[in-house]
Amino acid sequence: MPKSNGRIDGEQFQELMYQALETEIGGQEVYKAAIGCAQNKELKEDCQKDLKETENHERILRSTFERIGLDAEIDTPGRSVLRAKAEALVQSMKAALQDGGPIAAQLVAAECVVEAETKDHQNWELIGELAEALDGEKAKALREAFEEVEEEEDQHLYHTMGWARELWMETLGLPAVLPPPEEEKMVTTAIGAARAKQSRKEML
Ligand SMILES: [Fe+2]
Ligand SMILES: [Fe+2]
Repeated sequence: MPKSNGRIDGEQFQELMYQALETEIGGQEVYKAAIGCAQNKELKEDCQKDLKETENHERILRSTFERIGLDAEIDTPGRSVLRAKAEALVQSMKAALQDGGPIAAQLVAAECVVEAETKDHQNWELIGELAEALDGEKAKALREAFEEVEEEEDQHLYHTMGWARELWMETLGLPAVLPPPEEEKMVTTAIGAARAKQSRKEML
């Protein structure tokens, strides 16, 4: 792969880094609310584990910011959009708990985590792409952060997608695999998630 140092848009690179940080910060609030909505014991434990990892991702990004000379306190329009989105997810879980009851709130919580993790996952995928395309110290800092976080982000997304689907199946009265096959098979790739989903019938 050719290095494309000269063609990376520096402003957009910074924007991605700020959005990645804000996603991890907001993600912690989403997880705290989701833990409050989780009825299934394993789902609750899973959310607690993912919350701890998300806290660690914030720490990793803050030290990456120091290494590449970015001020973590600078706000951007993109950051404030993400802040509002995280608040909306938290509010929707609170509303579901109040108006829809615990089972509905658990479903809403699983879907809120999928939404938050979809953005988180994409941020890190892009950070991985940048680490490949850049050279020198910046690339090294990004690569080290990416290697620490990548697999956890894969799990956060694919496992929660599995939870949301199986919890819906259960409420519909359809056979459900709980915990979901993605979780049981420790899926970390999109292909693995597709395979786990295919094998769910055998797991019933
Ligand atoms: Fe994360
Ligand atoms: Fe995540």
